[in-house]
Amino acid sequence: MKLNVALIGAGGIAHPHAQALLANEHVASLAIAEPQAEVREAFAQRYGLQRAVADYRELLADPAIDLVDLCLPHDLHCPVALEAFAAGKHVISEKPLARTVEECEAMIEAAEKAGRRLFVSHNQLFFPAVRRAKEMLEAGVLGRPFLALINIIGNEFGRMNDPTHWKGSWDRAGGGVTIDTGIHALYLLEHFFGEVEAVTAVLRRLVVEPDNKADDNAALTLEFKGGVLANIVLTYTALAHPWEERRHLYGTEGSLHLADVEPYLQHTRGTATEVIPVASPPHLHPWSIGQSLNHLLDCLAHDREPLITAEQGRSAVRLAQAAYHSSREGRRVVLRQLGNPHQC
Ligand SMILES: NC(=O)c1ccc[n+]([C@@H]2O[C@H](COP(=O)([O-])OP(=O)(O)OC[C@H]3O[C@@H](n4cnc5c(N)ncnc54)[C@H](O)[C@@H]3O)[C@@H](O)[C@H]2O)c1
Repeated sequence: MKLNVALIGAGGIAHPHAQALLANEHVASLAIAEPQAEVREAFAQRYGLQRAVADYRELLADPAIDLVDLCLPHDLHCPVALEAFAAGKHVISEKPLARTVEECEAMIEAAEKAGRRLFVSHNQLFFPAVRRAKEMLEAGVLGRPFLALINIIGNEFGRMNDPTHWKGSWDRAGGGVTIDTGIHALYLLEHFFGEVEAVTAVLRRLVVEPDNKADDNAALTLEFKGGVLANIVLTYTALAHPWEERRHLYGTEGSLHLADVEPYLQHTRGTATEVIPVASPPHLHPWSIGQSLNHLLDCLAHDREPLITAEQGRSAVRLAQAAYHSSREGRRVVLRQLGNPHQC
């Protein structure tokens, strides 16, 4: 199957998307839609794209386009996806699937109605250490897992502190660090440990100044139905610290430690620590975006279920929303007590 693809949005994350799409065997052509003329032209030139337009609707109106790949601010994921389904296209969305569960629902329903596929790119599922850790968990190597810790120590101060930038804004991003990079921690933990019972969170804007911006620092506790307790600590304001992501999983028989730098995966049992060999691409994050897109295009071409479904994308957004709920109300949010299973 050969697909004509439209990439919508030519910002930071669109670069690894373009590289992966251009190298993919299922892609026949790639076009870009981006309203900022300078950004659009530089992008088209860099990747040798013949077709670069300001208005994505021009590409949606073209019956030859099969698939759109959304690399847009969060508030545009849902409306542009709905227009794309109405135009008969398949859709891949960057994370988070959308800002709210309701938007995710609307996207899922529109895809079903149009008979088209909706995919979300949860690229960290494709980290080699994550794939191997999942296998080890399933093989019972940790015994009974009971605790997980994920820290994302990042710096998005510049974009978050700019009141005109969508990053971290309540209205355009749907929240701050939690809905943005925190979504990676949420979907990873659900991938490892299944359904969440309750979320307790303290989400704060501690450093960035504009009032329209949401949490720049966050502490979340997740209680999983299977008995695992997980703690997530996030910052977007580690100004003088290199970006760092660490994931620690503890069980009755040992622990696993996943990093973004070598060694990527360590297994500890008793007093012994062993480095588990996994593939070590030099640029893990952009590489994993390529892996994620290759997987989704394969699923589209061969009509297969992806590793991550749109419903799972919705579930991660639901957890983020539950965290905002918990923080706002100063209470533990029990997910199963809510009337509609898709609401928090
Ligand atoms: N997977 C990851 O690790 C990762 C990392 C960064 C960002 N992201 C996600 O990628 C998405 C985009 O983030 P980004 O950092 O690239 O943002 P960005 O602000 O750098 O880029 C967004 C681009 O969209 C363009 N745009 C705005 N309105 C448009 C429209 N109507 N039509 C076409 N283009 C339009 C903007 O001009 C801008 O160039 C977000 O969902 C974000 O959460 C994912």
